[in-house]
Amino acid sequence: MKKIILITGWIGYIWSHSVVAFEQAWYKIVIVDNLSNSSLETLENIEKIIWYKPDFFEVDLRDKNKLEKVFEKYNFDWVIHFAGLKAVWESCEKAELYFDNNINWSNILFWLMKKYWVKNIVFSSSATVFTSDNKSPLDESMQTWNCSNPYGTTKFLIENILKDLAKFSWFRVMNLRYFNPIWAHSSWFLWEDPEWIPNNLMPFIFKVATWELRELKVFGNDYNTIDGTWVRDYIDVVDLINWHLKAYEKLSPLNPPLQEGEKKWFFKTYNLWVGKWKSVLEMIKATEKIVWKKIPYKIVDRREGDLDEVYCNPEKAKKELGWEAVISLEESLENSWRFYNK
Ligand code: NAD
Ligand code: UFG
Repeated sequence: MKKIILITGWIGYIWSHSVVAFEQAWYKIVIVDNLSNSSLETLENIEKIIWYKPDFFEVDLRDKNKLEKVFEKYNFDWVIHFAGLKAVWESCEKAELYFDNNINWSNILFWLMKKYWVKNIVFSSSATVFTSDNKSPLDESMQTWNCSNPYGTTKFLIENILKDLAKFSWFRVMNLRYFNPIWAHSSWFLWEDPEWIPNNLMPFIFKVATWELRELKVFGNDYNTIDGTWVRDYIDVVDLINWHLKAYEKLSPLNPPLQEGEKKWFFKTYNLWVGKWKSVLEMIKATEKIVWKKIPYKIVDRREGDLDEVYCNPEKAKKELGWEAVISLEESLENSWRFYNK
């Protein structure tokens, strides 16, 4: 029998890419999303790939009664918690909204999980949980507090709430931190194509390459990095999703059981990155090679809340989960460009 997974926020950018992988891995998927940053069109596109519509409920996590009805209807094995607000700069302007949406409403979800004995959870955390005192390459043993922006604080706090739920309520938690995912799905039905002006770098660069936007604004060139522009660790969405499937296998209580000497409670954190980095100017150059044209850009002031240099040491994931990113940056950019240019 298929295992049933409740996925919150699943028709967002990253997660809508994982349908095929989940289907192949034999999971039944139930989605809840309030459509605040996604649309039903994506769900229709998902249907074109898997030939049926996954069970979907338009539910805001704050609506406990509506969410409880979903818990009553299914016997979930896992929850994958992706729903949340995610723009670093916006969180600086609207911290209270981020605390409400990401923390308070997540807690409603955890409350219902406990009530219905659903103890396995995979949580989408982020590189923003690290304190800016840490120097890259970051690894899982490094300090995570004093975050640079409220969005990071929400992820840091949820990580710690889940740690306590693991310790005291027997939740089994896979806490996955990732950074800058890119690419469009090979089916081309799914892609990151926000109708409004994108916040994230890569969709912005591609929209400049297609002349939809005039020029890229580079937020600062006075950081302490190779060329003064910020540095990030980019990962292909498909690599990221495969990584999640590995994590789910590990989360299953039977596979493997806790090792002798291992703590009784199960809370594991993995950094989900490639371990290679690129500055913004290097990303522009790398994209120019793929699109065969110049990307006009202008240096402007720093953006609030940004960190300068963030990339990671992916050894733990390699060693414990046997995961390694296999898709090169060039391949990711080529695939994205094929979509944007079609
Ligand atoms: P996204 O905004 O595309 O998707 C998030 C989804 O959650 C959206 O469909 C939105 O409608 C939904 N949502 C938000 N608040 C909700 C609520 N209260 N109730 C129900 N649904 C709600 O984001 P994404 O890029 O797919 O990211 C998914 C997760 O991964 C987020 O938790 C994000 O913080 C994390 N993450 C993303 C990145 C990235 O660069 N994209 C990096 C690190 C971590
Ligand atoms: N940037 C520009 N110009 C732009 C957009 C971005 O110069 O038009 C710069 C930003 O200043 C930043 C870098 O590009 O330094 C990357 O910015 P993104 O907005 O693409 O991504 P962030 O690194 O700020 O944040 C992303 C996700 C978050 C996630 C975070 C770390 O959006 O959800 O990575 O995990 F949490």
